Amino acid sequence: MPNTQQYSQMISSSLMGEWIVVASEQEFLQCQQIKTCLDGQTLNIHRDIIDGVHVYQVKFDSLEADMLNLAVQVAFGFVWLCVGTEKKPLFQLDEYEIVEARRVPCGAYGVRTSPLRGIENFLDMAHFPYVHTGILGAEPETAVKPYHVEWREDVDEIWATECFFTQPLAAPSSPQPQETEYIYRVASPLNAILYKVNTAAKGIIPADVVCLFIQPLSETHIRAHLLMILDDQTSSMTDMVLFQQKIFTQDKPILENHLPLKLPLEKLEIPTKADALATAYRKWLITKNWSYGVHKSMQTEQVV
Ligand SMILES: [Fe+2]
Repeated sequence: MPNTQQYSQMISSSLMGEWIVVASEQEFLQCQQIKTCLDGQTLNIHRDIIDGVHVYQVKFDSLEADMLNLAVQVAFGFVWLCVGTEKKPLFQLDEYEIVEARRVPCGAYGVRTSPLRGIENFLDMAHFPYVHTGILGAEPETAVKPYHVEWREDVDEIWATECFFTQPLAAPSSPQPQETEYIYRVASPLNAILYKVNTAAKGIIPADVVCLFIQPLSETHIRAHLLMILDDQTSSMTDMVLFQQKIFTQDKPILENHLPLKLPLEKLEIPTKADALATAYRKWLITKNWSYGVHKSMQTEQVV
C-alpha cells in the first residue's frame, strides 16, 4: 500500500476525505462508462444495473491511485467520490426529495479557473448588475445591502441570510422586476447552494434552489456541475436549462480572465462590506489549512 506521503502526491491532501462530484447521472444516458478526471488523475466510471438500481464503480487509471480507499455514492442525480476517510457525511438537500418540485440538471461547464474562484464567484452578488445585466441585476440598483453571515459549527457550513437584491428577471417565470431574497449555503469547500425566494411560485418548496458542485480537474481547471430545483410548473425544461446556461456562460469569461486564477486567501485582494460572505469563505478555508487552488504570494502561476 502507498504510504501517506505517496497519497499526497496522487491526490491533494485538501481533497482527501471530501465528497466530490465526478459525474452527472445524465452522462450515462447514452453509455455505461465514462472517462473523466480528478486532480490530474484519470477516472473510469462504470454503471451497472443491479436489481433495477444503478450502481457506479469508480476506478483510477493509475494503479497507485486505485489502491486508495474510495467510497462512491449517488445523490441528487450525481455520482460522488470520497478518497480516504470522509471528513463529514455528504450534505443533505431536502428539496431534491420533494416530488412535485422540478429537478433541472443544467449540465457541466469546463472552466479554466480555480475550484475556489468558481465557488466564490457563485457567492458574489456585487457582480449581478455588471455581468448579468438585465437579468440578475441592472444599474442603478448596484448596491449590495448588508446581510448576515454565520459559520454553522454543528454541520461545518457557511451560511449567508437576509440577502436582498433587486432583479429585472429573477427566474424564467418572473413576471416583473422584483426584490429577490437569497440565502447562500457553502456546504463544503467545493459545493455551494443558493436558495432564492420565488414570489411567483406555488409554495411547493420554500425557495428555488441552485446548486454548484465543483469537480476539480486540476488547481486551475474545473468542471462546474449545475443543478436547479424549481417551484415552476409552467416553464419548459429547455427554457429552464437555457436560463441557467445563459447566466453561467456570462460568468465563464469573467472567471477565466481573473488573475491570478488561483484564489489568494490573504491580503492580495482587499475585501469590501459586500464581500462578507467571500471573506468568511476564505477564513474558513484558512482554518482548514486548505491549499488546493490557493494562490500563494510571490508564486508564479502554472496553468494546467
Ligand atoms: Fe454570475
